[in-house]
Amino acid sequence: MKADRTALLAAVLLSVYPAIRLSAQDTTAGKNVYVKWCAGCHGETGAGDGPAASTMLPRPRNFTGAVYKVRTTASGQLPTDADLMRAIDDGLPGSAMPAWKGRLSDGERRDVMAYLKTFSSFFADTSQHIAALTFSKEPGGGAGAAALKEGRLFYDSIGCRKCHGDQGHGDGPSAPTLKDDAGFPIYAADLHQSWRFRGGPTAADIYRRLRTGLDGTPMPSFSDLIDQKFLTDEQLWRLAQYVRSLSPAETPEVRDVIHAAQIAGALPAAPDDSAWARLDRYWFPLVGQVIRKPRWFAPAVSGVWVQAVHNGRELALRVSWDDRSQSPDTAWLAFERRVLETMASDDSSPPPSAAEPWPDQLAVQFPRHIPDGMERPYFLMGAATDPVYQWRWTSQPRRAVAGLARGIDQFDALPSAPAAQAVYDHGEWRVVFTRALATPDTANDVQLATGRAIPVAFFAWDGSDGEHGSRMAVSTWYFLALDRPTPASVVVSPLIAMVVTLGLGMLVIVRAQRRGGQGGQGGRGAGRRSGV
Ligand code: HEC
Ligand code: HEC
Repeated sequence: MKADRTALLAAVLLSVYPAIRLSAQDTTAGKNVYVKWCAGCHGETGAGDGPAASTMLPRPRNFTGAVYKVRTTASGQLPTDADLMRAIDDGLPGSAMPAWKGRLSDGERRDVMAYLKTFSSFFADTSQHIAALTFSKEPGGGAGAAALKEGRLFYDSIGCRKCHGDQGHGDGPSAPTLKDDAGFPIYAADLHQSWRFRGGPTAADIYRRLRTGLDGTPMPSFSDLIDQKFLTDEQLWRLAQYVRSLSPAETPEVRDVIHAAQIAGALPAAPDDSAWARLDRYWFPLVGQVIRKPRWFAPAVSGVWVQAVHNGRELALRVSWDDRSQSPDTAWLAFERRVLETMASDDSSPPPSAAEPWPDQLAVQFPRHIPDGMERPYFLMGAATDPVYQWRWTSQPRRAVAGLARGIDQFDALPSAPAAQAVYDHGEWRVVFTRALATPDTANDVQLATGRAIPVAFFAWDGSDGEHGSRMAVSTWYFLALDRPTPASVVVSPLIAMVVTLGLGMLVIVRAQRRGGQGGQGGRGAGRRSGV
């Protein structure tokens, strides 16, 4: 009886929605994959409202609307199967959407893709022909200075800066007003972090996003400007190449150890001192603080760039990070309120306090004493019994203090405040901390010594994102190593290049052996450590 009814129902459905017949088989298997791996975020009914969804910004896609960001089809069109497969295989960088290649088999990924399409009747409408745009190839001649200059001209003239800002940090005048189609606040992409672009980091990826737009977001398609002969296809490529040039050529690799070279004489204390341009930069990713309540799932600062140099007496540490707002900035108050409302539905934490003009903040954390082994205080600002030594900088009042943190809530200032100079430049903070290596308070202030692996961690708050207290972005422990000076013998024999090279080779070996004797801490090539 029951089987008959099911068959009847299926027959009726198939006559109404003929497209289902084609995918009926895949979608049963696809549904199993979906329920197991996707529904937690995207919701049982595909509405983007799974149990975890309220902790995410951007929210998981609502499949019932069939609006997709990363497509090869024209603005407003459905994606191709290949577009959906790409999102499933590679994920959407810079969002919570994981890459599934390697976690699910080819068959499972194809099946779940077919199942996603059943959430919207748009895909069943076979009269809609889904066709990818034809994209030109990157013009020859490379992205030289002239090409980039031309790209920059169009960046200014077609209004990218309105949202993405003068230097592309996502701080344009319209940025605080942006929302996606569901009404959630949305950040204009930071064009200096192409590794976080949803559709991929290459100039070709960017060119395609400019042709198609990111549907469901304020990021428009610029194809019509070509049709209107406002610019040529080649000029759109130049713009894509210009945007690409704002980010590092390679996705920044996370290294464990910041090497501070030793120089003679005065340290560069100003953030824009030309000496910084010659020093290595180290990238440290930050993530939302989700361990202690109130948790924070929408950190605005995705990482910090760090450089360090010393002269045997003092250390200068430059931390630079992208921040769309020089907080406190009342222009961002409404945006902050919308972020707090969006994230407030996380019922694991008390509702956030009202939007207030908080300052931006940064903390650099060390243990009080350089450990001999691998034991370090708790990375999340230490504990009552095992405090950490921190430098805390705020944008208003613009100052840095030193102190001991005993957990997130307790901070007691110490007299050893570092000197700090800061600039805010079109969506980027650059702060230089300078402090003597040795201080009188050897019990509380970390005593910075050469040739040791000094644990260091970073914390950042964007006030205009509603961040303060435990609502912050955190890193794990990394290391700072103050390199020892090159021995005088090497410096005075520059004529014998051969000997110098060999001598340095020996030095590296000797240092490696010495480190080995200290329990293998630090040093270049030290393995990844979890540290959390
Ligand atoms: C941890 C949460 C999470 C899980 C699990 C997850 N997704 Fe997503 N997914 C997201 C988020 C968040 C977005 C939206 C990102 C954005 O808009 O930038 C998204 C977007 C998508 C998109 C839209 C791509 C586009 O171009 O618009 C597709 C397709 C997708 N997910 C498929 C899947 C499939 C299939 C699964 C299961 C195999 C899955 N997702 C599991 C969080 C998740
Ligand atoms: C009205 C505001 C607005 C304008 C104008 C605008 N963008 Fe965007 N753009 C956005 C938003 C918002 C996002 C982020 C979308 C998201 O998070 O999914 C974005 C994302 C991007 C991305 C990232 C693409 C990806 O794969 O994630 C690039 C690159 C980009 N924009 C370049 C440009 C360029 C170049 C221009 C000018 C031709 C431009 N945008 C004009 C709002 C805008």
